[in-house]
Amino acid sequence: MNHQRYNDYYLVNDEDMGEDTDSIEFMPRQKCCTLKKCLIISAISFVSLAVLAFIVVFVIFPLVFQNSLSLQQDLVFTRWGLETNSTVFQILRFPEYKNYYVPVKDLATNETLKLGLWHILPFDLAKAAIYNDTYDYEDALKNSNYSVLLYFHGTGEDRSDNLRKYQFFRTFFHVIVFDYRGYGDSQAGTMLEKNIVNDCRQIYQWLQEKTSALLFVWGHSLGTSLAVSTLSQLGQEANTTGLILEAAFTSFAEELYHHPYVKYFRWLPWFKQTIVNPLRKNGFLFETSKHILNVTCPILFLHAIDDAVVPYFMSKQLYNISMQRNVDEEVKNNTQLVLFDKRLNLRHYFIYQDSYTIFYFYNFMRHFTGFPVSTNESSHQS
Ligand SMILES: *[C@@H]1O[C@H](CO)[C@@H](O)[C@H](O)[C@H]1NC(C)=O
Ligand SMILES: *[C@@H]1O[C@H](CO)[C@@H](O)[C@H](O)[C@H]1NC(C)=O
Ligand SMILES: *[C@@H]1O[C@H](CO)[C@@H](O)[C@H](O)[C@H]1NC(C)=O
Ligand SMILES: *[C@@H]1O[C@H](CO)[C@@H](O)[C@H](O)[C@H]1NC(C)=O
Ligand SMILES: *[C@@H]1O[C@H](CO)[C@@H](O)[C@H](O)[C@H]1NC(C)=O
Ligand SMILES: *[C@@H]1O[C@H](CO)[C@@H](O)[C@H](O)[C@H]1NC(C)=O
Ligand SMILES: *[C@@H]1O[C@H](CO)[C@@H](O)[C@H](O)[C@H]1NC(C)=O
Ligand SMILES: *[C@@H]1O[C@H](CO)[C@@H](O)[C@H](O)[C@H]1NC(C)=O
Ligand SMILES: *[C@@H]1O[C@H](CO)[C@@H](O)[C@H](O)[C@H]1NC(C)=O
Repeated sequence: MNHQRYNDYYLVNDEDMGEDTDSIEFMPRQKCCTLKKCLIISAISFVSLAVLAFIVVFVIFPLVFQNSLSLQQDLVFTRWGLETNSTVFQILRFPEYKNYYVPVKDLATNETLKLGLWHILPFDLAKAAIYNDTYDYEDALKNSNYSVLLYFHGTGEDRSDNLRKYQFFRTFFHVIVFDYRGYGDSQAGTMLEKNIVNDCRQIYQWLQEKTSALLFVWGHSLGTSLAVSTLSQLGQEANTTGLILEAAFTSFAEELYHHPYVKYFRWLPWFKQTIVNPLRKNGFLFETSKHILNVTCPILFLHAIDDAVVPYFMSKQLYNISMQRNVDEEVKNNTQLVLFDKRLNLRHYFIYQDSYTIFYFYNFMRHFTGFPVSTNESSHQS
C-alpha cells in the first residue's frame, strides 16, 4: 500500500523522470497533431456549413419563394407574434375607445369577413366620456366638430400596436384604426393586395356613412400604399380632405431593392426572376407612384432621412409625381413634403414623436375649413 502510494506520488510530482522524458515530449506533439486535425476538420465543416447555408439562403429559399404563394403572402403581409385574442382588443387598457367589427364582402367569393376596428375619441370628448358608461360614441362621431382620421397601419402590426401614436392623433381627430383581413382579430381571408384594398374601400364607405365630419387619411409604410390605392379606386367618391403619407414608397418592386432584409438578395443574378417577378405576377404591386395620380386632395409627405426601411428619396419622387396631378392649384399648393434630419433619429417609426411634427401637421391642417382645434374649442363640450 505504502509503495503504491509512493509511486503515485512519484509519477505525478517528480520533474526529473529520466527515461520517461520521451513520453513526456511525445505528448505535446500528439496534442499539436490533434489540434491541427481539429482545425482542419473545423475549417472543412465550417466551409461546408457556410456553403450549405449559402445554398439554402440564396438558392433554395429564392426558388421556394418563387413558387410558393403562401410564403409570398406571409412575407409581404407579415403577422408573426401579433395579438389575435379578441378579448384583448375589446378590453385593452386604453382610455375611451370603442371596438367594432365591420363586415366587408370578399371580392371573389362574396363571403362576409368581419374586420376589427376601433373608434378612439378626441381628447376633449374623452374627458366627458371617461365618467360616463352610457356615452354615445356613434352620436359623437356623427355630427362632430372634430375631423375624423382613418389610419392605415403598416405590415407586421395590428391596431393595438400604435397606442402612443393614437394619443398624438386624438389631439386633432376622432381616430379610426382597423385591422386588415388576417391581422389582429380580423377574420382571415385570401391575402392578396386587391382583396385588401377592396376591404379598405368598404371600411372607408362604412365610415362615410357614420359621419358627416371631414375625413382625413393617414398611412404608414405599407399602409401608405393601401391608403393611396383605396382613395384612387374611390376617386371623387372619397371626398377626402387631406392625406398624410408617412414613409411612403413608390412601388413594391422598387422597395424590394432597398428593404433591409431583401437587399441582401438583390445582387443575385436570379433576384428578379425568383423574387421580384413572382410577386408582380401574383399581384403584389403596391404601385403608389401610379395610383397617386388619381388622388385629388392635398397630400402631406413625411419621411425621416435616416429611415432604413424605406429610403426617403421615394417620398421625394412621390411628391414630384403628385405635383403633376391634374388638380386645382390650391390642392398642389397645399401638398407638402417634410423631411426630418437624421440627427433627430426618427427612423421608420417615430416621426410622430418629434416635437415639431405637430407644427408641420398644424400647418397642413390650417388650410382646411372646419379645422376645429382652437382656443375656444373646449367651450363646445362639457
Ligand atoms: C384572451 O384574453 C383574455 C383576457 O386577457 C383571457 O382571459 C383569455 O383566456 C384569452 N383567451 C385565449 C383563447 O387565449
Ligand atoms: C357575388 O355577388 C354578385 C352580385 O351581388 C354576383 O353577380 C356574383 O356572381 C357573385 N359571385 C359569387 C362568386 O358568388
Ligand atoms: C352620458 O352620455 C349620454 C350619451 O352621450 C348622454 O345622453 C348623457 O347625458 C351623459 N351622461 C352624463 C352624466 O354626462
Ligand atoms: C360644433 O360647433 C358649433 C359652433 O361652432 C356648436 O354650435 C355645436 O354645438 C358644436 N357641435 C358639437 C357636436 O359639439
Ligand atoms: C381613378 O378614379 C376613377 C374615379 O374618379 C376610377 O373610375 C378609376 O378606376 C381610378 N383609377 C384607378 C387606377 O384606380
Ligand atoms: C364632400 O365634402 C364637402 C366638404 O368638404 C361637402 O360639402 C360635400 O357635400 C361632400 N360631398 C360628398 C359627396 O360627400
Ligand atoms: C420633378 O422632377 C423633375 C425632373 O426630375 C424636375 O425638373 C422638377 O423640378 C421636379 N418637380 C418638383 C415639384 O420637385
Ligand atoms: C398657390 O401658390 C402660389 C405661389 O405661392 C400663389 O401665387 C397662388 O396664388 C396660390 N394659389 C392658390 C389657389 O392658392
Ligand atoms: C373664438 O373666440 C374668438 C374671440 O373670443 C371669437 O371671435 C371666435 O368667433 C371664436 N371662434 C369660435 C369658433 O367660436
